[in-house]
Amino acid sequence: MAEDIIRVRGNKTLAGEVKISGAKNSALKLLAAAILGQGPSVIHNVPLISDIKVMSEVLDCLGAHIERDGHTIRIDTSDVDKYEAPYELVSKMRASISVLGPLLGRFGRAHVAMPGGCQIGARKIDMHLKGLEALGVEFKVAHGYLQAVAADGLHGAEVMLDFPSVGATENLLMASVVAEGETIIENAAREPEIVDLANMLNAMGAQVTGAGTSSIRVEGVPLSSLHPCEHTTVGDRIEAGTFLVGGALTGGPLTVRGVNPSYLHMAIIKLRAMGCTVEAGDDWIRVERTGSLQPVDIQTLPHPGFPTDLQAQFMLLAALAQGTSVITENVFENRFMFASELMRMGADITIEEHHALVRGVDHLEGAPVTSTDLRAGAALVLAGIVADGETLVRRIRHIDRGYENYVGKLNSLGADAERMRIDMDDDEE
Ligand code: UD1
Repeated sequence: MAEDIIRVRGNKTLAGEVKISGAKNSALKLLAAAILGQGPSVIHNVPLISDIKVMSEVLDCLGAHIERDGHTIRIDTSDVDKYEAPYELVSKMRASISVLGPLLGRFGRAHVAMPGGCQIGARKIDMHLKGLEALGVEFKVAHGYLQAVAADGLHGAEVMLDFPSVGATENLLMASVVAEGETIIENAAREPEIVDLANMLNAMGAQVTGAGTSSIRVEGVPLSSLHPCEHTTVGDRIEAGTFLVGGALTGGPLTVRGVNPSYLHMAIIKLRAMGCTVEAGDDWIRVERTGSLQPVDIQTLPHPGFPTDLQAQFMLLAALAQGTSVITENVFENRFMFASELMRMGADITIEEHHALVRGVDHLEGAPVTSTDLRAGAALVLAGIVADGETLVRRIRHIDRGYENYVGKLNSLGADAERMRIDMDDDEE
């Protein structure tokens, strides 16, 4: 079977400037939210990545008309007349569950295939369901599908989330904007992508306040008063953080442009603690390192804590630091699969439940490695850039899910990487 891989030649330095794309985790939800606008919305700065293709297919299945012109998507949801997200697509991308809230808002019902297992932990959806139940939705599971119906319409409620789940906050937000009365989401997720979604919903005529804080207040409006809008997706803080790690790893100076530095406050603190100089302006961040990398302790937490989506990249930095770092993963179970791939390149890491003890080594060696998820894949390519010799990264479809032109952007900064199609003997599926 043929498979695309990335071949990376090592001992290179990343320096220069790179333009960051729109945030994957925002654009996916903005597209879903367009269902509530019941007309032609225009969304700018949408990244060219495969997850957006999957979400476009989901919306197409529901009856939306989607046209893409570079980074702008025009999505007309006037003719959306179905409320079922099929298994073939939900199984490709778990974030398809984000259509649940807007479909309930538009039709009072939704059928969404159960997302199923995921490599980075159980990723349950109980908080989505509990919150929506408080708004008047009843659920049952039949034939692998979650069937949701708000028989008496959606009504506002006070919902306290057990954990500030990004996906649950978003689904609740998208359903509650058209619920009758007021909804208050307590212990809401505070990620910048939540603020972006609330801004788009408000541009459509919704009344959301408090997004970006733990307490979001939504004054429901009739569905008929929502309208399409034009909106620009925020920059991708995780893509930006990944390139900054590349600069920190090889020295830089490396500048990322197109992202609000406040979104990366904690990551910048950790880069400085590791011995980097970091400067920032309105929409840019520059990293440079002349001394050695210092060890650091990191624990992943919901925003504004350290993002779990940068955990693998910082583990790579820690692997080359002069000393021992402790990395604690609090958001997802089972998100240390990357460590064993990095150990194949010479890293010294011990995993104890949700802690990783990373003892710095003085160099990594190129090796054949496999992406275990999106962020791990991106980090393995960075590891190859700094390692001795050649690294072959497999299962790069994970990288394609969330990084636009990753190889091209890295090469423009000084990497020597290429995508290649090779024949695999084994069937690793
Ligand atoms: C989103 C992001 C993902 C990021 C994550 C945390 C998208 C498409 N993905 O994922 O990149 O890593 O936020 O910042 O935006 N949980 C439950 N029950 C629920 C919901 C969540 O137990 O009902 C648990 C999950 O299993 C996980 C944790 O809560 O352990 C965080 O999940 P959540 O914040 O919901 O992440 P996602 O929205 O899935």
